[in-house]
Amino acid sequence: MSRVLIIGCGGVASVAIRKCCQISDVFTELCIASRTRAKCDALAAKLTGSTSTKITTAQVNADDVSQLIDLIRSYKPDLVMNIALPYQDLTIMDACLACGVNYMDTANYEPEDTDDPSWRTVYEKRCAEAGFSAYFDYSWQWAYRDKFEKAGLTALLGCGFDPGVTQAYCAYALKHEFDSIDTIDILDCNGGDHGYPFATNFNPEVNLREVSAPGSYWENGHWVEVPAMSIKREYHFDRVGDKDMYLLHHEEIESLAQNIPGVKRIRFFMTFGQSYLTHMKCLENVGMLSTTPVQFEGHDIVPIKFLKELLPDPASLGPRTHGKTNIGCIFTGHKNGKPHTYYIYNVCDHQECYREVESQAISYTTGVPAMCGALMLLTGKWNTPGVHTVEEFDPDPFLMALDQYGLPRSESRTPALVD
Ligand SMILES: NC(=O)c1ccc[n+]([C@@H]2O[C@H](COP(=O)([O-])OP(=O)(O)OC[C@H]3O[C@@H](n4cnc5c(N)ncnc54)[C@H](OP(=O)(O)O)[C@@H]3O)[C@@H](O)[C@H]2O)c1
Repeated sequence: MSRVLIIGCGGVASVAIRKCCQISDVFTELCIASRTRAKCDALAAKLTGSTSTKITTAQVNADDVSQLIDLIRSYKPDLVMNIALPYQDLTIMDACLACGVNYMDTANYEPEDTDDPSWRTVYEKRCAEAGFSAYFDYSWQWAYRDKFEKAGLTALLGCGFDPGVTQAYCAYALKHEFDSIDTIDILDCNGGDHGYPFATNFNPEVNLREVSAPGSYWENGHWVEVPAMSIKREYHFDRVGDKDMYLLHHEEIESLAQNIPGVKRIRFFMTFGQSYLTHMKCLENVGMLSTTPVQFEGHDIVPIKFLKELLPDPASLGPRTHGKTNIGCIFTGHKNGKPHTYYIYNVCDHQECYREVESQAISYTTGVPAMCGALMLLTGKWNTPGVHTVEEFDPDPFLMALDQYGLPRSESRTPALVD
């Protein structure tokens, strides 16, 4: 029996909400709150009659801590699920602390305005000290560790697929497969086709910021940064086929480097087709990926925000996307003194997701782990106070929930390795 406040009602949140409504004995009451209340009302209306979860809706600007506090105080949830944007992570964490409520999200903090001088000073210092230049990193949220611990509250960070399930795969490999892990390669393959010349599978602004940034990986205790898309490999993905994949910086590398003892190298690869890369390069070259406002006919316009308006809404890709995703981790290391390799991954079909929850597999593979993470917190399986990433918790009940609720694991102990 629990009351959950979900903030955001976009592609990922819609899946998480639908999945929560499939487990009404745990998620007895849900409040969907977002900037545009009409979207929350439309989803609530669709679900009414098909679930015994009691759904209410609210309007909230999650950039405003006092609005959040008012909402949380009036609804009195057991958990706040932040499935809005990474820009709202800190305001929602502040509100949860003020109200004494557990918190979770699916992506680590990054600022909306990367030209803000006070943020930029901290960012530039971090780039120089840590050695990677992504706009997002865990330092902002790890700074809340003491506050959450002292309050006896849990904040679960990055509980989507990657970050999220990929870290549970790492914790699982360490617990059951290895005495020591030497290397981790996280492979994210989307073999889906939506038929548009160019579209992103989740929020375009967040997605394009991520993939146009320099790549980086962790090796022998430090970051190695390389130009965007400069490391390419080909891999044969189970049930998808041969795909080109490129090394990206990705947020879970940062926490895994701290939490997997003795790991020597961690890399992240994502597949992209040539058409996607050509479009992205062209948009970047003409300045359309810029986050800095430009003056146009008397208005301040942020190019990447304008581009978001022109691109297809990721939530609309569901009916037209065919094919499968395959996301997982390949490990090398040792067990009982002998070299060992292990690959654990999930394969998810876009059309099957659409039939179940009217969404494509990218939102599905993020929304289902968000629901399963909430399930872990609400049922007390994951309850260590403080601010934690997924690999810090017992992976077993979480992977069992994923198997049960739509993202079953596949395994291989003789995988092809990535050179
Ligand atoms: N870990 C993973 O594997 C993974 C994978 C994909 C995505 N993600 C993360 O999942 C999150 C959601 O992505 P998405 O694709 O669902 O994005 P989306 O479709 O753009 O949805 C974002 C939602 O947040 C709402 N929102 C934005 N700003 C708000 C504010 N100030 N106050 C209240 N609500 C606000 C939006 O409201 P409007 O409708 O008014 O715009 C929208 O409902 C993002 O943080 C993304 O980075 C994680």
